[in-house]
Amino acid sequence: MRKRPGEVRDAIVNVLKTRPRGASVAEITQHVTTFIGAVPASSIRSYLQLNTPELFARMNRAQYALNGFEYQPLAPPQGVANRSIRFGQSTLVQDDCFAWLERRPLNSIHAVVTDPPYGLVEYSELEQKKLRAGKGGVWRIPPSFDGSQRSPLPRFTTLKQTDLDALEQFFTAWAERLLPVLVPGANVVVASNPLLSYLVSGALACAGLERRGEIARLVMTMRGGDRPKHAHKEFSGVSVMPRSMWEPWLVFRKPLEGRAQDNLRKWGTGGFRRISAERPFGDVIESSPTRSSERALAPHPSLKPQGFLRQLVRGVLPLGKGIVLDPFAGAGSTLAAAEALGYESIGVEKDAAYFNVATKAVPKLARLALNTD
Ligand SMILES: C[S@@+](CC[C@H](N)C(=O)[O-])C[C@H]1O[C@@H](n2cnc3c(N)ncnc32)[C@H](O)[C@@H]1O
Repeated sequence: MRKRPGEVRDAIVNVLKTRPRGASVAEITQHVTTFIGAVPASSIRSYLQLNTPELFARMNRAQYALNGFEYQPLAPPQGVANRSIRFGQSTLVQDDCFAWLERRPLNSIHAVVTDPPYGLVEYSELEQKKLRAGKGGVWRIPPSFDGSQRSPLPRFTTLKQTDLDALEQFFTAWAERLLPVLVPGANVVVASNPLLSYLVSGALACAGLERRGEIARLVMTMRGGDRPKHAHKEFSGVSVMPRSMWEPWLVFRKPLEGRAQDNLRKWGTGGFRRISAERPFGDVIESSPTRSSERALAPHPSLKPQGFLRQLVRGVLPLGKGIVLDPFAGAGSTLAAAEALGYESIGVEKDAAYFNVATKAVPKLARLALNTD
């Protein structure tokens, strides 16, 4: 197919703008082909050579990078130690995932299942200090009405327009870095919430991921349903917001290379694993809040339950082969689910305390026998 003028250049620039250390001709060719159709490696090589040094720079080991591009990491990994631990088929890395994604080889991840931070500030050092000290900050303890202790939740409703803009930029930059490391057809499933899912969806689509729907995790959360503050009695028949009874998990994928069957043959991705011969993978999964026994093994304020995650993680690798990534790993619940299923996985967590929690929690969560979630 004929390409429009500048299409090849734009596709090359797009991939290189998130790779400060450059990429090889083969990697660039693969990426360009996924987005604009087949372009021979020889054409890409001559395009790169012809436009070096005006547009590109030749780095070590036959890698090309953008020349003079003012690269500014959004979340510089200052002070983040870089250590990694392996157990079974899972690898847990302590790092900032933006920096980690920039170093990861292209086309090397087969699926993503993740629960990212939403307030941007809630997992900052300052807010984590306040949460750990038990006072102030964006975390609040929901009212306890049945004698059981509730876990702290961040207040999403307090986000201002500037916070929303920052969130959109965060997810765009994240998806731009994620896209080149995914193999074509890789599923990307991102936990969200009904207030902010539109914004995350827009950012992911803008970066070049294809939207494929949403999975509804049916779970009764502690959000919404309250009467107006300081006017409970006057408006006793009113809830300011609907009581939340589900959680959206956004479903995206990197565009396929060819038809679904071509992509499945070449990369092992491009669909969802069926539950059985009769039952396809569905987009509603019944769940319940994370059980206290799991919380005791993996103390993290946003811990997701194994019962739900194992169903989801099983589904994202259509042939049961490949690497599942959780770039915001927390206590490692996605890794534990992958480990329980016999899948290979990588988790990246920047906070040292949660990294330590995860190193202990993953093997224990993975061994949990589950009847229900
Ligand atoms: C919502 S929590 C994930 C919890 C996880 N689903 C679990 O079940 O334990 C988000 C996690 O992302 C981590 N995080 C935030 N920004 C990060 C970044 N840039 N790179 C890596 N981890 C990050 C936070 O420290 C937090 O532990």
